[in-house]
Amino acid sequence: MLFLPLVTLLCGFAETAHGSSLLPNVNAAFGDSPASFNISVDRGFINGLRERVRRARLPVEVQSVSAGSDGPTIANVTSVQRFWVKDYDWETTEQSINSRFKQFTTTVQMPPQSNYSQDVPLHFVHHKSSRPDAIPLLFVHGWPGSFLEVENIIGFLTNPPNSSLPAFHVVAPSIPGFGFSPAPRYAGFGSEEAGHAFNALMHQLQYAKYVMQSGDFGAIIMRYQAVSYPQNLVSVLSNFWPVQPNATDLARYAANETTTDETEYIARFNTFVDVESGYRIIQETQPLTIGYALTDSPLGFAMWIFSLMREAVDPHITIWTAQDIITWSLMYTIQGPYGGVRLYEEMLRECAFQGLGVGNLGGTPGSYFKQPVAISEFPYDIWYGLPLDWAQRGGNAKVRYMHDRGGHFAAWEVPQLLADDIWGWFGDREVSGTKVFY
Ligand SMILES: *[C@@H]1O[C@H](CO)[C@@H](O)[C@H](O)[C@H]1NC(C)=O
Ligand SMILES: *[C@@H]1O[C@H](CO)[C@@H](O)[C@H](O)[C@H]1NC(C)=O
Ligand SMILES: *[C@@H]1O[C@H](CO)[C@@H](O)[C@H](O)[C@H]1NC(C)=O
Ligand SMILES: *[C@@H]1O[C@H](CO)[C@@H](O)[C@H](O)[C@H]1NC(C)=O
Ligand SMILES: *[C@@H]1O[C@H](CO)[C@@H](O)[C@H](O)[C@H]1NC(C)=O
Ligand SMILES: *[C@@H]1O[C@H](CO)[C@@H](O)[C@H](O)[C@H]1NC(C)=O
Repeated sequence: MLFLPLVTLLCGFAETAHGSSLLPNVNAAFGDSPASFNISVDRGFINGLRERVRRARLPVEVQSVSAGSDGPTIANVTSVQRFWVKDYDWETTEQSINSRFKQFTTTVQMPPQSNYSQDVPLHFVHHKSSRPDAIPLLFVHGWPGSFLEVENIIGFLTNPPNSSLPAFHVVAPSIPGFGFSPAPRYAGFGSEEAGHAFNALMHQLQYAKYVMQSGDFGAIIMRYQAVSYPQNLVSVLSNFWPVQPNATDLARYAANETTTDETEYIARFNTFVDVESGYRIIQETQPLTIGYALTDSPLGFAMWIFSLMREAVDPHITIWTAQDIITWSLMYTIQGPYGGVRLYEEMLRECAFQGLGVGNLGGTPGSYFKQPVAISEFPYDIWYGLPLDWAQRGGNAKVRYMHDRGGHFAAWEVPQLLADDIWGWFGDREVSGTKVFY
């Protein structure tokens, strides 16, 4: 009953199958306890999208611009458009997602210490391990991804190759506004609030204590969640742990006195800030302005996220296909991308993601937390080379796993490498603190 719209109560209108006001275009109910859920998107909406894509108007190409430097190429958009119109089959994609994931919906209540007082409807994946000693693990996706990021790693975690490696009950929610978690309808839901909601979700699933593995937005939410819930979130492994260089570091950098790692780390962030951050700044400052265009053009939105997808992956490993690009974009487009787009504005308010190299990424005063941290770094990510002693300024970082392959979407691109880190870190019961589970 919690989420029946008021008009239903007053006027007796039934919600139409695909007209849920909470989640546009999707047949979904959000009760007050976990219920099984399969994705079922209105076919008329899917057909309408295809028609929009068919009729999309494309820019006229400027020949002297080096391919890809202004954004995805005209060849990219044309090939995605052609595939979407002729070959993309949502029905098969939907069935395949439903068959691979055990999905649920529920509603959680925010704790009194949050300023966001609305209840929060959530969609999540929950795969239990058959191992009796399995540890609950929360996995939170980032931008421009979705819960689908957990797909390639979830089997390793629930069902490791042998009993000497730790096993996990995996919970992978959609951040509100992404995938099938309805976008917040009120301002004030940022990464701190997401941390409250996800801790409440773990409680609802009877996981009083748990560990967490995340990257990108998920890793920022994780920091807030660790600060808010030291009794519940036992230990974390982050594949996105940027730390602001201080004035001494920057002076050493200017004088060419930084180590190879430090130089790489600063240079990489400068590149991200200088040439790859246009999307971030508009989403932080005027998300509604760009929201009109991104909501109106499914093909344009697919290119909006593909721009970052192509830049932050290991090209030897991850070749994005039109099928992937369309499906990843639909994880926003089906409910409408604005809710996910404007999370950046909430994070700016929180100073969670402020300017990367120039701000305070997740390093706001008071955000240091004591739970043990491991960090995993992949060379094609937007950050790499962060030394352990810098990492320790942001939290109780104990271990740094460096890789020579993989990029921003590690769980998707190099699931075995990330699983090795997860097994190694949470398998060290003393240092990671997971002895509390045994
Ligand atoms: C996008 O364009 C680049 C450069 O032309 C090309 O290497 C890549 O394969 C294209 N990707 C897609 C999905 O079209
Ligand atoms: C969801 O779909 C899968 C595969 O299509 C099916 O096995 C399962 O029973 C469905 N679950 C629900 C809750 O409808
Ligand atoms: C809640 O709002 C008050 C008043 O605006 C503010 O002082 C406080 O910092 C906020 N708390 C959180 C957790 O955002
Ligand atoms: C368990 O699997 C891991 C990873 O494949 C391997 O390194 C380890 O040697 C195996 N241990 C045993 C006891 O088989
Ligand atoms: C920067 O951090 C280092 C320790 O990692 C410290 O020695 C130095 O004093 C710091 N500089 C400033 C300006 O805080
Ligand atoms: C640092 O190295 C760069 C490139 O080698 C050089 O252009 C610059 O002058 C150097 N700066 C200092 C302060 O040595």
